[in-house]
Amino acid sequence: MSAIRTDSLTKDYSTGFWRPRPYRALDHLTIDVAAGEVFGFLGPNGAGKTTTLKLLMRLIFPTSGHVEVLGRPAGDASVKRRIGYLPENPYFYDNLTAEELLVYYARLLGQRGRDASSRAGELLDLVGIGRERTLQLRKFSKGMVQRVGLAQALLNDPEVVFLDEPMSGLDPLGRREVRALILRLRERGRTVFFSSHILSDAESLCNRVAILSAGRLVATGAVSELLAFDVTGWELVMANLSAATVERLSAGIVRATRIAEGRYALELPIESAPEGLLRELTATGATLVSLNPIRPTLEDVFVKKISTAAAR
Ligand SMILES: Nc1ncnc2c1ncn2[C@@H]1O[C@H](COP(=O)(O)OP(=O)(O)OP(=O)(O)O)[C@@H](O)[C@H]1O
Ligand SMILES: [Mg+2]
Repeated sequence: MSAIRTDSLTKDYSTGFWRPRPYRALDHLTIDVAAGEVFGFLGPNGAGKTTTLKLLMRLIFPTSGHVEVLGRPAGDASVKRRIGYLPENPYFYDNLTAEELLVYYARLLGQRGRDASSRAGELLDLVGIGRERTLQLRKFSKGMVQRVGLAQALLNDPEVVFLDEPMSGLDPLGRREVRALILRLRERGRTVFFSSHILSDAESLCNRVAILSAGRLVATGAVSELLAFDVTGWELVMANLSAATVERLSAGIVRATRIAEGRYALELPIESAPEGLLRELTATGATLVSLNPIRPTLEDVFVKKISTAAAR
């Protein structure tokens, strides 16, 4: 079953005061996200990610095209209770404490007094807000507000969670925690749709991604497929290696970089299996430090797709 479906979704903003002109922020976007998927919605600044999320939430209306969430039109009241949403820049009543805010939202969702406060407590634990929960939100740092926003998005134990840049403003530890949290949601069969321009987040989390550029979908597919022609060569790091040996075997080496005395990084072509050269090297007394496949990262794919899209 599809959790999220868009069909030719298009959004024109009207810009210019005296002579309004349409500005196309999203151009015929068609995507389909299956239930239980963690889907990464990627693109550079201004690509149209937030616009898409707002359309999915029915916070804004499409110029044309359709959106369905859990098989119903976006914005359908029965669907609203089954989804969660973290906006790009969450803004909360900042004279409330984190705890008060979450209890307030839990009550809005129809949870009763004691249930609401235990649920709020659980979620604050989950997102790593400890003693600070009794502080007013105006005293919170950006990353802490982001965490409260995440807790808010999960209050109703949603089936589908929409997160607009969930890692933004978080320190490395916070990013790791959010990654773990998303994986836990996946284990529990939840659908997660998140936007990001940080590709390593997507690489480590997503079943599938879509890449958006200037309002257009430029690629979509499994992360493993997008990295399709994966290995492009090998990087071999050796110690106790002499310059003479490197010279002698240079025919089988694409590039040799001297890192330190006797220590080299050798790039080997994809056509030849690295074992043969490795054997010859170790025969001279050199020792293996590491051997890694060289493959394009999602970053490379991203840059390539976007530059070809721009050239069109
Ligand atoms: N209310 C608006 N009126 C006019 N143009 C808008 C409006 N909101 C967004 N835009 C434009 O639409 C385009 C897409 O914006 P959007 O916020 O969806 O991008 P994004 O992918 O979320 O970028 P970021 O990574 O910076 O968050 C941008 O060019 C932006 O200037
Ligand atoms: Mg955005």
